[in-house]
Amino acid sequence: MVYLDNAATTPVHPEVIAAIGAAMAEEYGNPSSRHAVGLAAERRLEQARATVAAALGVAPAQLVFTSGGTEANALAVLGVARVRARSRRAGHVLVSSIEHPSVLESARLLAEQGVAVEEIPVTRGGWVDPAEVEARVRSDTGLVAVMHVNNETGVRQPVEEIATRARARSSRCLILVDAVQSFSYLPTELRALGADIVTASAHKIQGPKGVGCLALGARAKLAPLWGGGDQEAGRRAGTENLPGIVGLARAVELARGQGCSTLASCAAALCDELARLLPAARRIGEPGRLSDHIVAIAIAGAPSEVLVNALEERGVCASSGSACHSRRALRSHVLDAMGLPRDRGVVRFSFSRASTVEEARTAARALADAARALGVA
Ligand SMILES: Cc1ncc(COP(=O)(O)O)c(C=O)c1O
Repeated sequence: MVYLDNAATTPVHPEVIAAIGAAMAEEYGNPSSRHAVGLAAERRLEQARATVAAALGVAPAQLVFTSGGTEANALAVLGVARVRARSRRAGHVLVSSIEHPSVLESARLLAEQGVAVEEIPVTRGGWVDPAEVEARVRSDTGLVAVMHVNNETGVRQPVEEIATRARARSSRCLILVDAVQSFSYLPTELRALGADIVTASAHKIQGPKGVGCLALGARAKLAPLWGGGDQEAGRRAGTENLPGIVGLARAVELARGQGCSTLASCAAALCDELARLLPAARRIGEPGRLSDHIVAIAIAGAPSEVLVNALEERGVCASSGSACHSRRALRSHVLDAMGLPRDRGVVRFSFSRASTVEEARTAARALADAARALGVA
């Protein structure tokens, strides 16, 4: 099997598995316990926190571990709103129309509670125009959420310019950048992104599932979503998932050591081979704004699910968009927001640092063969 669905999840790096195993065997203490076993676990937790915090450009005290990217985004959107609600400011929230459902649906929950929520449109090239954000920011805008790299198209968003323009209109609004798909692939330090809150997840970078984090800038204040413990400086109650957190930190270190050079070669091999074998295929997204590890290909005349199934029959795992959509066979809100005609089938290929150029070429050949068999080549 050629696995090119790494934007859904990546295979866990063997050294991450070893680090998690060691943490489970040796650091089994509860980091909140005050005896020697607990203190050893706490030391390990704080070591891991320092590693991950550095990758996001914040002090360790400004990093909150969560159960993944979904919870990190929900905590950001809902936690910031809870702070505002305490001072009886319902306020206004802006979210891009191509955000992950964890942001969009959290914003919808706020709308049900009386917060004015507005969606920012995207261009046909799949990016949020900073001018569109600027035009919508109001004096009571509390949060602007725009992701760094879109999970379905790989299009990079101009988050730094968006943040600058939004703050020029309202100095108090906070900028949330979901960096789940860019973490370790692009610079994601809070300041480089112009963000107040950055979220990330371990399983997209060869780490374990069920662990993620958010990094908070000095202006970002959030209230916890539930009570029951004062872990994570009172921002997220519950005993920390120490093995998972250790795995996240190890994945960060390994990614830093490996760099990203193979990803560009994989993307180029896939696109070159497709240009040769399947000229009808089009890469989605504005050229010049695309990332190397996510390549979305549109083909007229064949539904996405049919293309993905035909690829699987040929030994290639890809997806029809986000993992959350692909089970439900729903039309993607991202492709709709970009105005992509509905007769286009879309296949997303996504690479990890473990992917090879040969796998990319195999995938292109399989797609060309599938398109011919379906009569849409
Ligand atoms: C952009 C983006 N944000 C958030 C998430 C959710 O992360 P997790 O799977 O860790 O909950 C995903 C997962 O696909 C994602 O692609």
